[in-house]
Amino acid sequence: MVLFSTLFQWAERLYDVQIPQRNLKSFFGESQFSGSFYAFPSSKNLLTSCLSTFHSVYLFIQFLLYLFPKGTLMENILSFIESNHQRYLTELKELLAIPSVSSQTERKPEMRRAAEWLKTQMQTIGLQNIQIMETEGHPVVYADWLNAPGKPTILIYGHYDVQPEDPVDLWKTPPFEATERDGNLYARGAADDKGQIFIHLKAIEAFLKNSGALPVNIKIIFEGEEEVGSEHLGKFIGEHKDLLKADVIVISDSGMFAKGIPSVTYALRGLAYMEVEVTGPNSDLHSGSFGGSVHNPIQALTEMIASLHDKNGRITVKGMYDDVRPLTKAERAAFKKLPWNDKKYAASLGLKQLYGEKGFTTLERLWTRPTLECNGIWGGYIGEGAKTVLPAKAFAKISMRLVPDQSSAKIAKVFEKHLKKIAPKTVDVKVKNLHGGEPAITPVDSPGVKAAVVALEKGFGKKPLYQREGGSIPIVVDFKKLLGIDSVLLGFGLPDENAHAPNEFINLDNFFGGIKTTAHYYHEFPNFWKSGKKK
Ligand code: BES
Ligand code: MN
Ligand code: MN
Repeated sequence: MVLFSTLFQWAERLYDVQIPQRNLKSFFGESQFSGSFYAFPSSKNLLTSCLSTFHSVYLFIQFLLYLFPKGTLMENILSFIESNHQRYLTELKELLAIPSVSSQTERKPEMRRAAEWLKTQMQTIGLQNIQIMETEGHPVVYADWLNAPGKPTILIYGHYDVQPEDPVDLWKTPPFEATERDGNLYARGAADDKGQIFIHLKAIEAFLKNSGALPVNIKIIFEGEEEVGSEHLGKFIGEHKDLLKADVIVISDSGMFAKGIPSVTYALRGLAYMEVEVTGPNSDLHSGSFGGSVHNPIQALTEMIASLHDKNGRITVKGMYDDVRPLTKAERAAFKKLPWNDKKYAASLGLKQLYGEKGFTTLERLWTRPTLECNGIWGGYIGEGAKTVLPAKAFAKISMRLVPDQSSAKIAKVFEKHLKKIAPKTVDVKVKNLHGGEPAITPVDSPGVKAAVVALEKGFGKKPLYQREGGSIPIVVDFKKLLGIDSVLLGFGLPDENAHAPNEFINLDNFFGGIKTTAHYYHEFPNFWKSGKKK
C-alpha cells in the first residue's frame, strides 16, 4: 500500500492532478492489476514478465523524475508569483498614479488613460481580443482568453475608476503616488478597486508566462463608472450578452472579514441615493433684519433630517421596512459565531460607543438592515470669519442602504413622499434621485463558491468564513437578471483599508495572497464546475 501511495504521489507531481486519498481503495478494486502484482512481480508467464520489465523501466524513470522534480504546474505558478513581488508593485504603482476619478469631468482624459494602461497591460500578459469599448459614459475595457476547449468560462468584473481623493490634506503621502509603509501600499484605488483587478491580471500572467495556457477560459470586463452607480453598464451588458456569456462571474471588489481571516461574501446591500434641496426666501437675507420672521432653510432641513430616525435608531420613513426580508435563525446563529468584538471595533474607529437600530447586533445592522445616512450637508456661509446671513437654500445628500427584498426605485419614492409630507409649510422641498442599486444575495452552495473556499484556504492557509457586506456593487443583480449568472465575491480588501477616505491602502500580504488565491481559483474552478454539472 505504501508503494502505491508513493506511486500516486509521483503521478500527481508529474501530471499535476490530485488523486483523492479516499479513492485509493476503490481505484485498486477496479484495477486489472492486484496489489500483490506490484509488490511481488512474478515471472511465471511471459505476459506478466514483459509487463513487469516494462514497469521496472517505468518505475526507474519515475524515480529519476522524483529525484529531479520538474514541479507541478501550480508549484511553478506559485514560485513565479513569489519571485515577482517587486515587479508587481512597480507596475501597480503606475496604474495607481493615474487619477481616474469617474465623477469629475476634468478627469475624463485620465479615465481614458487608465483604460489605455489596462489595454497595454492586457496585451503584455498575453490576453486576447482586447478592446476599449465605448459607452455613453466612461469606456469598458474587455479582454479574453478562450483557448481551453471543454473548460468552463470565468467572467471577471472589476472597476478602474476611483472615488475623489479629497480631503487631500489628510493624506500622509500623495494619493496618486503609491507609497509602501508598514506592509501596506497607500494610494487612492489601492484596494478599491485597482489593486484587486490587478491581482487577477497577475494571476493570469503567471499561467500564460509559465505554461502558455490557462486552466479555464477567461473573459474580463473592467468598467469606469462603478463609483458613480454603473449608470451605463446595464445597457452595455444587455447589448453584449453573447460576448459576456460565462459559467461564473468573479468579482474582487470587497474585503476579507479581518486580517488573516479570508472570507467569501454572499450578500451586498443595495442603495438609494437622494439629494434634498430646501428653499426658503427668494434671496439670502440679513440675519439681523430678517431673523425671527423667516424659517432658516438650514434649520428646516436639519429638523427634517433629525426626524428620520426615532430614539431606537429605526428609520421613520413610512414604508421603509415593508419589504425587508427577516433574518433567519440560522443566519443569526452563524453571525454570532464570527470572531467579533464591539468594544474593539468601537475603539478602532475612535468611538466611545456604537450607534444603531435596537434589537440587532452590529453585524446584523451592518449586513442585513436598511440604514439611512446623511453624506453631506451644506448651505449658507462657510468661508473665513463671520458673516451674518440667513441663507435662501440648504442642501443634503442622503443615502439609504437596502437589503433583500427592498427595491431601490420603491424606496426612492417612499423617501420623496415622506420628505414632502414632513416638510414644514415655511419652505419648499425638492428631492432628486441621484442613483441606486439593488441588494444582492448569492447562493453559497454553487460550484463557484466551493472553488472559492478551496482557493482561499490554499492562498491564505486558513479556511474562509462566510460573510455579508454592507457596501454595494449594483451590477451584481444586473448580471443575474441579464445574463443569468451568479457572482462570486472574492475580496482581498480589509475593513480598515480606508476605501473612499484619505490614506486608502491595500495590505501587501493580502495583495500577494490574493494573486495566489486567484491562481488557485482558476485552477480549481473547472473541477467544481464538473462536479456541479453532474448533479
Ligand atoms: N467596492 C465597493 C463596494 C463594497 C464596499 C463592497 C465594501 C463590499 C464592501 C464599491 O466600489 C463601492 O464603493 N460601491 C458604492 C456603490 C455606489 C457608488 C453605487 C458603495 O457601496 O457606496
Ligand atoms: Mn469598489
Ligand atoms: Mn468604492
